[in-house]
Amino acid sequence: MKKAARPLVVGNWKMNPVSITVAKRLFKDICLGIPRMTDTEIVIAPPALYFTELLKLKNGKKIKFCTQDIFWEKMGAYTGELSLPMYKGLSLSYSIIGHSERRALGETDEEVNKKIHAILKTDVTPIVCIGERARDSHGTYLSLIEKQIREACKSVSKMKIKRLVIAYEPIWAIGTGKTATATDAHEMKLFIKKILTNLYGRNISSHVRVLYGGSVKPTNANDLVRNGEVDGFLIGGASLKAKDFIEIVRTVNTYAKE
Ligand code: PGA
Repeated sequence: MKKAARPLVVGNWKMNPVSITVAKRLFKDICLGIPRMTDTEIVIAPPALYFTELLKLKNGKKIKFCTQDIFWEKMGAYTGELSLPMYKGLSLSYSIIGHSERRALGETDEEVNKKIHAILKTDVTPIVCIGERARDSHGTYLSLIEKQIREACKSVSKMKIKRLVIAYEPIWAIGTGKTATATDAHEMKLFIKKILTNLYGRNISSHVRVLYGGSVKPTNANDLVRNGEVDGFLIGGASLKAKDFIEIVRTVNTYAKE
């Protein structure tokens, strides 16, 4: 089996937990359980309001921070939005863009592209989410995936695209308990790489990491990473249970070390 690039496991807490006290406990439990020697990048995307408090608990642990979204402008009359410079001093490493839950609220491919451009001007790494609502026997969903990638990457240079992370998250698998099979995930990774190779060449596309997301659990993580050959996971529900999240990190890490 081909080994993952630098493996990456991202916990997307979404709009959870409701209290900072619970968030701190969850974060502490994750910090305690993180394997000492890990080759896997471990990333948490908490609600933005919790960043400052959680950062204080990091205590030398190698956990990185991620936003669940970001606005493309630096400042101005954009009610409710947060910009990248506002995260200065908060150890921001990654930013999730185009999550299907944001797309469902109206986020367009064009906005996803603007956000990617803004992020790539900084040291932050964008994690762009793509995925189909449903599959059909004619493969129409593949054209949608291709469109999402092409639009997201529009006018992004070869040098910058290398840093991009793509999270393949079929919408039918998010929070539903239905997971893509390892074969589905593997085929989609190859398809994504093919599109990137057509756009930027094989060498550049080999740098882009492809994650899988959608009902990832300790019980399916091993199969997905080993046989799906994905470079890691974007995890929702299971990232809210420290034990499950850590178990998934350990699974990815064990595979990376073999
Ligand atoms: P899930 O969410 O793991 O709860 O399916 C994944 C995601 O939305 O990123």
